[in-house]
Amino acid sequence: MIKIRKIPSEILTVKVKEHKKYKQKLLDAISELPFNNYHAAGVTDKKLAKSDWGLPREHPRKYLDIYYNEVIPSAMSEIIKYYKAQDWRIINSWYKTYDKDSYYPWHNHPETHFSLVYFLELPNSKFKTTIKINNKIINYKAGEGDLICFPAHLLHQSEKNKGGKKTVIVSNANIYYGVQ
Ligand SMILES: [Fe+2]
Repeated sequence: MIKIRKIPSEILTVKVKEHKKYKQKLLDAISELPFNNYHAAGVTDKKLAKSDWGLPREHPRKYLDIYYNEVIPSAMSEIIKYYKAQDWRIINSWYKTYDKDSYYPWHNHPETHFSLVYFLELPNSKFKTTIKINNKIINYKAGEGDLICFPAHLLHQSEKNKGGKKTVIVSNANIYYGVQ
C-alpha cells in the first residue's frame, strides 16, 4: 500500500535562437558522419531511426561542436532560469533521423535529470516526440526549431513517421543548485 501525493511536473518548450541559421549547418555536419546504426536496446529493425549512438565517443562530431557552442547555452540558460538552478551540464548527445515510416519505441533515459529534444527538421509537428506519464499521453506544443526539456524518467517514443524526413538532436542534461 502506498500513498500518493501528486506534484507538478512540466515539459518546457524553448524556441532555439536563430534556428534557421543553424539548421542547414547542423544537417550538413550530421550527413558527413559515417553511417552508424539503427539503435534501440534489444531491437534490430531497419525502420528504427538512424543514429550516431554507437559511434565511439571520441569520433569527431562537428555537429555537436556547433550545437554545444552556439545552440545549447542560450536554451539551457532559459531552462535553469525556470528551475532557479545555478548551472547545467550536458552529459551526452546524439542525433536521430527518421525517414518515411521510421519510428523509435517507448523508452526513458536513465542516470540524468532531463531529456532534451531539439526538433532540427520537423515538417509536420504531429510527428514530434510522444510523451506519456502513467499511461496517459501528455499534450504539449512544439514544432521545428523548438527544443523540449522533460524529466528523463518519463516514457517517450516517436511514432511511425508519416510527416516527411525528421531529424532531432537529443541530449541528457543535469542541472545544479549551489555547491556541487
Ligand atoms: Fe529518448
